[in-house]
Amino acid sequence: MRTQVAIIGAGPAGLLLGQLLHRAGIAAVVLERQSGDYVLGRIRAGLLEQVTTELLIEAAAGARLQREGLTHGGLELLFAGARHRIDMAGLTGGRHVTVYGQTEMTRDLMDARAAAGLTTVYEAADVSIHDFDGSSPKVRYYKDGAEHEITCDFIAGCDGYHGVCRASVPASAIRTYEKVYPFGWLGVLADVPPLSDELVYVNSERGFALCSMRSSTRSRYYLQCPLTDRAEDWSDQAFWGELHKRLDPAGRERLVTGPSIEKSIAPLRSFVAEPMRFGKLFLAGDAAHIVPPTGAKGLNLASSDVKYLSAALIEHYRDKSDAGLGTYSAKCLARVWRAERFSWWFTSLMHRFPENGEFGQKIQEAELGYLVNSRAASLAMAENYVGLPLDFGTS
Ligand code: APR
Ligand code: PHB
Repeated sequence: MRTQVAIIGAGPAGLLLGQLLHRAGIAAVVLERQSGDYVLGRIRAGLLEQVTTELLIEAAAGARLQREGLTHGGLELLFAGARHRIDMAGLTGGRHVTVYGQTEMTRDLMDARAAAGLTTVYEAADVSIHDFDGSSPKVRYYKDGAEHEITCDFIAGCDGYHGVCRASVPASAIRTYEKVYPFGWLGVLADVPPLSDELVYVNSERGFALCSMRSSTRSRYYLQCPLTDRAEDWSDQAFWGELHKRLDPAGRERLVTGPSIEKSIAPLRSFVAEPMRFGKLFLAGDAAHIVPPTGAKGLNLASSDVKYLSAALIEHYRDKSDAGLGTYSAKCLARVWRAERFSWWFTSLMHRFPENGEFGQKIQEAELGYLVNSRAASLAMAENYVGLPLDFGTS
């Protein structure tokens, strides 16, 4: 079989790329190791920057997002027992974020792909990529016991952190940067009304908490927890009890609890692989970089990679120019490192780091006080939180 672009991975990055290429008349095949149901079962963050929202609309998969997404022009920071609002829209000239689960975005992209009659090969086993440093890359995989080969012009590695694409690059051609944080996030999804109209990020003596939502009737909460904890050892009652302790009096009063629909622990990691292009292989999304979830940049970075990559591929086929392919890696990495910095900063500011002691805690409080009282500091946070423009300077 032959195609123009072989896309490995049917997460949001792979599906979004497939859709944007299809709309430009470029043929692509998507290969996914898991089943469609498995992909939809993964609960991830749910905060879209305007850049991501616009891209989903451009991909003709944004109708439900436009109907159901919750627009947020601000967020709340709770520290030293009191809440402070950051007026993101007011500070950034009207920019906002949209609360919409990654699962929903994935479902919309899957539906758009199916409606366009495009194939995604789910449960593709032992996917391997070949000759991406030559002129004729190939992808091999097994499906129902039979081996298949796809020849293509380009391979898009959208296969996440544990995928095969980055792992297929010779170690001498790639450099990685990593920071692992000494705690995790215990997340709970529950059909209860959210604590507040906006997200509440909590810095408490007992550790970080986040009160987020999926809709007016479904909430998503997180608690900083030791990495040694196991989700199954946290009863719903223990979870709500601990969250209650980390809130302010008004929050405690408003908190509505209920049975959890999902409960899991995610470790926190910062990771970047450089470069993001190896001949005819282009990495995008989690395959190339991971951010800790504070600020929810993961999906948004995956989306901006895909925007740059789809534009470069369209330029290649339509205008016979490889300029965009040539600058892809540098352009992505400039944006990636800015989001890495922001996510690391926001994580460092909001969590308890026992090794930093009381001095570290005092510094956090001083910075938080400065942040909410200084327009300059609030604006710096707001413009990063809503997302820097795609054409932000790269120097
Ligand atoms: N062959 C085929 N598919 C694979 C392989 C493989 N060897 N390895 C992994 N995959 C698939 C995974 O099963 C998954 O469905 O690639 C997909 C990668 O999807 P994600 O991990 O969701 O990554 P991405 O699409 O880059 O989306 C970024 O992840 O950072 C989080 O929540 C953040 O929303 C962000 C998202
Ligand atoms: C979420 O709703 O899952 C979420 C929201 C904001 C974050 C992280 C996660 O910063």
